[in-house]
Amino acid sequence: MVKHDVKDMKLAKEGKRRIEWADKSMPVLSEIRRRFEKEKPLKGKKMSACLHVTAETANLARTLKAGGADLVLVASNPLSTQDDISASLVADYDISVYAIKGEDHKTYYDHIHAALKHDPVVTMDDGADLVSTLHQDYPEKCKQIYASMEETTTGVIRLRAMHNDKALKLPVFAVNDALTKYLFDNRYGTGQSTVDGIIRATDILLAGKKVVIAGYGWCGRGFAMRCKGMGANVIITEVDPIKALEAVMDGYLVMPMQKAAEQGDLFVTMTGDINVLRKEHFQHLKDSAIIANSGHFNVEIDIPALEKLAKKKLTQVRQYVDAYELPNGNTVFLLAEGRLINLAAAEGHPASVMDMSFATQALATEFALKEKKNPGVYLVPKEVEDYISTLKLKTMGIEIDQLTEEQKEYLSSWEMGT
Ligand SMILES: NC(=O)c1ccc[n+]([C@@H]2O[C@H](COP(=O)([O-])OP(=O)(O)OC[C@H]3O[C@@H](n4cnc5c(N)ncnc54)[C@H](O)[C@@H]3O)[C@@H](O)[C@H]2O)c1
Repeated sequence: MVKHDVKDMKLAKEGKRRIEWADKSMPVLSEIRRRFEKEKPLKGKKMSACLHVTAETANLARTLKAGGADLVLVASNPLSTQDDISASLVADYDISVYAIKGEDHKTYYDHIHAALKHDPVVTMDDGADLVSTLHQDYPEKCKQIYASMEETTTGVIRLRAMHNDKALKLPVFAVNDALTKYLFDNRYGTGQSTVDGIIRATDILLAGKKVVIAGYGWCGRGFAMRCKGMGANVIITEVDPIKALEAVMDGYLVMPMQKAAEQGDLFVTMTGDINVLRKEHFQHLKDSAIIANSGHFNVEIDIPALEKLAKKKLTQVRQYVDAYELPNGNTVFLLAEGRLINLAAAEGHPASVMDMSFATQALATEFALKEKKNPGVYLVPKEVEDYISTLKLKTMGIEIDQLTEEQKEYLSSWEMGT
């Protein structure tokens, strides 16, 4: 059996069922897998991927293996691993996995080190923890890396910051920034699965609740749209005037967090920023307010400040819910220790949307191996986006119009006016 560190191999049977179920909603990735099986574009290439270990990720891992990659998969968050999926990947698909739901900080990093000791020539990240550790602890290995794929907004921001500081030693593809990724995954995937995580954790009714959403980016837009559709009154907090204006015109109330703090029943941060909900806000929260995060890292809510402020803490008053009693007598409920609620308390994004994100990952990997680029952050080529969107529409049975020759000529000319 391949090397691994997973919770319980007996969970493999259930994991396999869920992987196959997800695969039914991932026709674009399946098509790529069929081609990879024949053409083996990743043949013999050592790869290490640090991703949320979910059923959808398992289908990406199968695709990379079908393409000939020698893959090691580790968790990109201590709470997002689905233990049945890790077990099945090892038992049924011969893929090395190091990931256990709830692993402590040391185990999380031991697993990342295991992935780097595999000596990859391609890496894949969701949040840039793998590439950061590579640069810090194995700088000599950077030059053997053909390319690294980055899945999320926060990771791309970190990597661009490294590049601006001239610290980035390898080429990165910003998979997050592909239209086939963020327009759908961040908006519809995070939108729906954040609702799912909150409801599974709390069983609250969203109708009639005041939901405060910090950040009106792609994730915030998607979540706001879903909450509105379920009858909630949505309040947006923002720091970017354009996004704030957009939220106003989309029909939401917009105000500073200090004011929203007094009004909300449920608060969800999705900014990629630090300490968005902090002490000065906690002190004004209503009794029984619920706070959660769906941004990448667990820094969006200042949990150390909450711990310090609280008179009393009751852990796990319900699975994924900790209660903090504040000096004013009010109780605040924190979900999933401030980690991404959709992956900690639910199953992450639905397979149908991850079909496009992971098809983008697979094709970007194939593209990256064709030619080694200089260190820097690169966009996924437009041909990849066009291929994926055309195939996705086809699998949905949707046809669209084609430009006529006359229209093509008109759209590329400038002479014709009124
Ligand atoms: N939960 C998931 O599964 C999932 C999926 C995709 C992305 N993410 C993560 O969610 C976060 C947001 O991603 P995105 O794609 O929406 O990013 P984005 O850049 O499109 O949007 C972030 C928004 O937050 C705003 N913001 C920043 N600081 C703020 C503050 N202090 N108060 C209020 N607003 C603030 C920004 O102005 C921006 O409009 C990132 O950390 C990303 O990695 C999570």
